Order: sequence, then structure tokens, then C-alpha cells
Amino acid sequence: PEAKKIKIRESINRRDTRVKISGWVHRIRIQGKDMMFIVLRDGSGYIQCYLHGVLCHTYDAITLTLESTITVYGIISELPEGKQAPDNHELRVDYWELVHKAPGGDEAFTNQITTETDPSVLLDRRHLVIRGEKASAVLRVRSAVLRAFRDHFYSKGYAEVTPPHMVQTQVEGGSTLFELAYYHEKAYLTQSSQLYLETCLPSLGDVFAIAESFRAEKSHTRRHLSEYSHLEAEMAFITFDDLLDCLEDLICDTIDRVLSDKSIADLIYSLNKDFKKPERPFLRLDYKDAIQYLKDNDIKKPDGTFYEFGEDIPEAPERVMTDKLNRPIFLCRFPAEIKAFYMKRCKDDPRVTESVDVLMPNVGEIVGGSMRITDLDELLRGYQREGIDPAPYYWYTDQRKYGTTEHGGYGLGVERFLAWMLDRHTVRDCCLYPRFTERCKP
Ligand code: 4AD
Ligand code: MG
Repeated sequence: PEAKKIKIRESINRRDTRVKISGWVHRIRIQGKDMMFIVLRDGSGYIQCYLHGVLCHTYDAITLTLESTITVYGIISELPEGKQAPDNHELRVDYWELVHKAPGGDEAFTNQITTETDPSVLLDRRHLVIRGEKASAVLRVRSAVLRAFRDHFYSKGYAEVTPPHMVQTQVEGGSTLFELAYYHEKAYLTQSSQLYLETCLPSLGDVFAIAESFRAEKSHTRRHLSEYSHLEAEMAFITFDDLLDCLEDLICDTIDRVLSDKSIADLIYSLNKDFKKPERPFLRLDYKDAIQYLKDNDIKKPDGTFYEFGEDIPEAPERVMTDKLNRPIFLCRFPAEIKAFYMKRCKDDPRVTESVDVLMPNVGEIVGGSMRITDLDELLRGYQREGIDPAPYYWYTDQRKYGTTEHGGYGLGVERFLAWMLDRHTVRDCCLYPRFTERCKP
């Protein structure tokens, strides 16, 4: 009979029909001379294939190696009670073809990863590691999350824009800029698309971008990459409270969208069995109260003294606090001195800004956002405070001349969001090929 060519993900709807499936040999179990089970992987799923009799000897199937590519033909049959395989069925192979035989042994690396494997070896061989069950599950969820973010914004009428990556302005401080030779000029890899998004408001209204941001972060941490995927949005005619509502909505709606696909939800719970959708409203905590919280809970600096108002709360104490509170936190109203030049000050207390970080258990900061300065002179003072030459920012400054308005936005680190959602130890496991100090391959 004819065999319909299908992807493994479609197999559940193809039971009792003859199909043709191509993929990579993920696992092999041999029973005697005339019976073997192959778990085949095609990226869309896994299916157990049952070979028996002469089929075990064609192309010398008995010596088949992991990661070889094959095409199998046969009927998909539900398994009897007590037998286990993906989707509770197997493909009873009646014919198969070898596409390519992999060398086997050490080369079949993906199935030999243990907790003891040297992390730098894993990173060198990430092109093979991503074939593994966990790594590919993370990448599959990542794809669903990116789509859900986009669907969220499109459902609310935002326009998606694609700002340049090569720029001549900084956004988040000069110390983490990657410089590049741009013909005969100096340029940088972008740290954030925020300033460009702001210029789009009078043209397109609310906008968002999912773009790579680059930061020369010299320290090795669980949550810093040199290149990361940055989801940024900018909205006009809003208040600071509106901004917080938008953020809560983005996070909760994205999670609902992702979980509504059962196959993705299954992957999420397989990676993080305790995953719980956050409850609204998120806890709102002012920076000054966080400083007090650290004191009340005896969380100190390495030198034994307390954090004082005006100081940055670093990664370690931030995580201790977030883990103790164990729920999403809007940390608000940071002092102007420790934040970027563009942040708007609060009317009731000009020492602090209309700014917010979203903190999640296990990861800490996953979002940074704020209202932006609307007044021209205030912006010029902001450049001055940060020692920024305003000349290359003329186009950004112009926004305060040609119809300025209250506006604000935020940036979310996609890898940090995934590290939180999937309970991964490091953001390095949440992107395709991580970039950090001394790592720019594969
Ligand atoms: O807090 P950040 O620096 O804020 C901005 O860039 C704003 N201009 C965004 C905006 O308002 N449009 O970065 C935003 C987020 C952080 O909260 C974090 O999740 C992520 O980007 N991030 C990093 N992720 C991985 N590796 C790094 N080195 C990161 N630096 C920031
Ligand atoms: Mg930040």
C-alpha cells in the first residue's frame, strides 16, 4: 500500500495507516538476532520503530549507530497495556532505507551526556548537544515563547519594527559597549533598541522589537551573555501605572498562550515540574523599601555593612530577596544616579525615577523599564550627568522638540525569562549558541 510521508508529530492522527518517516536514530535496543527497537527523532517528536526478521539484517541494521539518518515505512499501531513508548504507539516497520550511517561511538555524543561531562566540552560540541532531549525541548519552548510574545503584541495592535544593530550611540552605559570599525568611523553593537523604538511612536504608535542586544560583560555569571535576545516595547500617552499593567499583562498573557498548546505545556512541565503561572497582581516594592527589607533580613554587603539608599543592589542580594519572597516582584523607583540618563524622575520625589525591574525567583531581574524624560532641558542635563556627548544623539533629542509626550517602555531578556520558566541554572542553556567572555564558537 501507499505510504504517506509524515512528520512524527502527526503520527498520533495516523494510527493504523501506512506512513513514511525520515529522521535520526535517537536510541537503539537490540533483542536477539531478529528483533530491534529504534527510537527515531525528526525534530518534531520521537517515535518507536519495531524491526524484526530480515529487516534487522538489511544494511546490517544490527550495527546501526546513533545519529544515523534513516527512512522507515510501516503501520503505526497502538501498544498493548504495559508497554511504553512515545505517544503509546510504535511503527511496525515493513521496509526501511539507510540515508547515512554515522560513525557511532563518541560521535554519538548527544546520548552520552552525564552530569559529569565537562561544561566546556559541552559548549564546544553544542551543535551536537542541541540534538539531546533536554536541549531540544528548551529550544522548542523558546520558539513557542517568541511566538506567544509576538501574538500578544499583535493582538494589542502594536507594530513590530526591526531597528539597526550597528549604532553610534550607547543606551546602558559606555563600559559594556562592543566597538566595531564601521568603514572609516567608529560604531558599536547595540545594547538596546529602546532609543529607536521611541522614535517610532509618532510614526507607528505602540511598537515592539525582538532583536539581539550586545553587552561586553566581563564577569562570569549565571545570567549574563555577551549577546542576548531582547524583547522591547514602547508606548506613548501612558502613565507609570499603565506601564506596570502592560508588563503584568505581557507576562501573564504570554504564559497563557504558551500553555494553551498541550505539547508545549508538556515540555515545560517535563523541564520544570513545579512551574506555576504567576498570580496577579505582582508584588510592588519600592527600591527604598527593598533597602529596608535587606536590613530587616540581615542581608549584607561582602564587607559586612548594609546596603544604603543610593547604592545599586547587586545580583546576589537581589536573588536572596527574590527567592525569599518567592513570587514576581515589581521593584520600583530607583535613584536617578544608579539608572540611565533617559529615565523620568518622580514628581513627588525627584531623587528617584519612574523605573521598574521585574524580579523572578531563581533568576532575579528579567525586565528593566521606565518612563522616559519628556522635557528637552531635563534630557540635556541627563546627558551631562552621564558625561555623554549629545551630538550623536541629535535624532533622539529631536523627539522632545517635535511633539513630546509622556511615554515609557521596557526590555525583557528572553533567555532570563526562559531560565525562570524552565528552571534552568544558567541563561547559557536558554539560547542556541551562547556568547560570553572567551566563548564565541560554535
Ligand atoms: O535593564 P536593561 O539594561 O534595560 C535596557 O536595556 C532598557 N534600555 C530596556 C528598555 O527599557 N527598552 O536590560 C533589559 C533586560 C534586563 O532586565 C535583562 O533581562 C536583560 O535585558 N539583560 C541581559 N540578559 C542577558 N545577558 C545580559 N548581559 C543582559 N543584560 C541585560
Ligand atoms: Mg537592568
